[in-house]
Amino acid sequence: MSLFITFEGIEGCGKSTQAALLAEHLRNEGHCVLLTHEPGDTPATAWIRTLLADPASDLDDRAELLLFLADRAQHVTTIIRPALERGEIVVCDRYSDSTIAYQGFGRGHDLKMLESLDRWASQATVPDLTMWIDTDIETGLARARRRRGGDGDRFEAQPEAFHKRIRNGFAALQSRFPERIQRLDGGASVEETFTRVKDLVQSRLS
Ligand code: TYD
Repeated sequence: MSLFITFEGIEGCGKSTQAALLAEHLRNEGHCVLLTHEPGDTPATAWIRTLLADPASDLDDRAELLLFLADRAQHVTTIIRPALERGEIVVCDRYSDSTIAYQGFGRGHDLKMLESLDRWASQATVPDLTMWIDTDIETGLARARRRRGGDGDRFEAQPEAFHKRIRNGFAALQSRFPERIQRLDGGASVEETFTRVKDLVQSRLS
């Protein structure tokens, strides 16, 4: 049975750790799992990730949005949909909700336009389940910057107000899609959060 699971949240929220733990757990249970991430997890689009992350990239906000969508189109067509069609479980670290939160709430692009562009780019491929790990901004940013050193990448270097808008964006998405998007407390331990993640996935599998 195919299942499409995404992980979302602000920088340093711990979603990549949970995504990796979940993929390993599901493989141990005998499932075929594809663990992937956005942006840049296809051979054709790795350069997009480098460009988007580089603080020296002088990117226009529209160009930034289109790069994320170009990456998504390639990712969905060549990686995500084929895996779902093979009946695999796809675990994806960031996806469409990040575009709404970062480019919509963060950069201020029109939300309706973003939704329509994203639906087109993703061929209306919507996750079955999304784990939003909700961490406070100070903790998340400190963790992300420590990990990367200095001020971090192009997004991590943004002012706190930007990250606050993104967190609010995820909260708004969660209220709009309460069935699909589950909020997990980013202040909990890795083990506590993972127990909740496993329970949520199990309930979708059974
Ligand atoms: P990455 O190094 O993958 O960060 P993280 O470990 O936090 O996922 O960088 C991805 C950055 O791109 C991250 O700051 C969020 C941002 N992003 C968007 O702004 N829009 C999007 O649609 C996606 C997928 C990511």
